[in-house]
Amino acid sequence: MAQPARLGRGGRWGRRRLSPAAPLQATAEQAARWRPWMQRALQLAVLGQGRTSPNPMVGCVVLDAGGQLAGEGFHAQAGLPHAEVGALRQAGERGKGGTAIVTLEPCCHHGRTPPCSQALLAAGIGRVVVAMVDPDPRVAGQGLAQLRAAGVEVLAGVCGAEARQLNRAFIHRVTTGRPLGILKWAMSLDGRTALPNGSSQWISGPEARAWVHRLRGQVDAVIVGGGTLRADDPLLTSRGLGPREPLRVVLSRTLDLPPQRQLWDQGPAPTLVVHGPEASALGRQQLDQLGVERLELDLCTPLTVLAALAQRGCNQVLWECGPPLAAEALGQGCVQQLAAVIAPKLLGGVAARTPLGDLGLVDVNGAQQWDLQGVERLGVDWLWHLNNSPGEIHP
Ligand SMILES: NC(=O)c1ccc[n+]([C@@H]2O[C@H](COP(=O)([O-])OP(=O)(O)OC[C@H]3O[C@@H](n4cnc5c(N)ncnc54)[C@H](OP(=O)(O)O)[C@@H]3O)[C@@H](O)[C@H]2O)c1
Repeated sequence: MAQPARLGRGGRWGRRRLSPAAPLQATAEQAARWRPWMQRALQLAVLGQGRTSPNPMVGCVVLDAGGQLAGEGFHAQAGLPHAEVGALRQAGERGKGGTAIVTLEPCCHHGRTPPCSQALLAAGIGRVVVAMVDPDPRVAGQGLAQLRAAGVEVLAGVCGAEARQLNRAFIHRVTTGRPLGILKWAMSLDGRTALPNGSSQWISGPEARAWVHRLRGQVDAVIVGGGTLRADDPLLTSRGLGPREPLRVVLSRTLDLPPQRQLWDQGPAPTLVVHGPEASALGRQQLDQLGVERLELDLCTPLTVLAALAQRGCNQVLWECGPPLAAEALGQGCVQQLAAVIAPKLLGGVAARTPLGDLGLVDVNGAQQWDLQGVERLGVDWLWHLNNSPGEIHP
């Protein structure tokens, strides 16, 4: 249980006046005091998972001046009120002189909703504890500076690592201009993803496929190449297992795409086909007649496609493509996480397909090194989670 806020002299409602240059970072003792409340705020933040892009997931707890819980809130969806506003509403008058514990620095700019820093000040909050500074250049410490300048005690860095992990996709998009990429594949124990004749359904079992469906419901877009569209006629939805359906993106140079494909029915989810200037006139015409949205890029590469998807508000994408596009995406630093499903099956055959095309290696010592985050069992299959290693060339 948090202790009552210690209020000093001066300021409205007796706020302690701090110099704007006062250190913000919570000491170990302060971090220990506020951690339980921040962990609750992080739990609240997760309730918005899959719905907040391009915004981050944020949770907030408001305690009254006596340290008792007065309000809770989370950011439920882009365009809806931010976490602080919901928690302050619940707290009402009890917020006066109290403490707001927020997983991310309060915003200080007018976006789709008014600035949260002003809402906290208007509610008379005496102390704000945050897990991390908002990397969005429109905020970047200014929200905390505003609060401090108004006499609010500000502490940062409580559960910072957990908050950064929760919003790693948002942080990646804001700092690089591209969504975070997850590359997923399913393969047999001997590393094959399809037989030479293209037969690949299904290598993994129902539990692993349900896991992929849930993941699709949490990312903003799922990307395949024209080859996978032609070979598998995929649906690429969450099958109702996620909070919402992703944008389904097809990359094609030729636009030589069949007229009958599940992705052309946009009832289940929207579809976007991205191509370059070399795409055929016939392919363009066919998609236009089908009412499928096309995006033509002067230079169509995984990097430029991701930049375009970031512009559309995507924080996180899932690559579900075949070997050549997967290798291209990896080579251009468009993948930060791998999800490899390994099924206890043997497909054999030197001509059978593998997950990745050529990575241009001539020496095994130059292989990309990935950090194993964990392995989980899904039915009879094993799912490997890997993150890129800091310092590697694949950012
Ligand atoms: N086991 C698994 O997890 C898994 C996952 C996905 C796919 N697969 C298998 O992989 C096979 C399909 O492999 P694939 O190599 O043909 O598929 P792919 O990598 O999904 O598609 C390759 C195609 O992507 C398009 N493309 C690549 N780079 C591009 C760029 N820079 N700009 C625009 N378009 C670009 C081109 O399409 P156009 O030819 O239309 O120009 C290219 O032919 C299928 O058998 C499928 O079952 C397996």
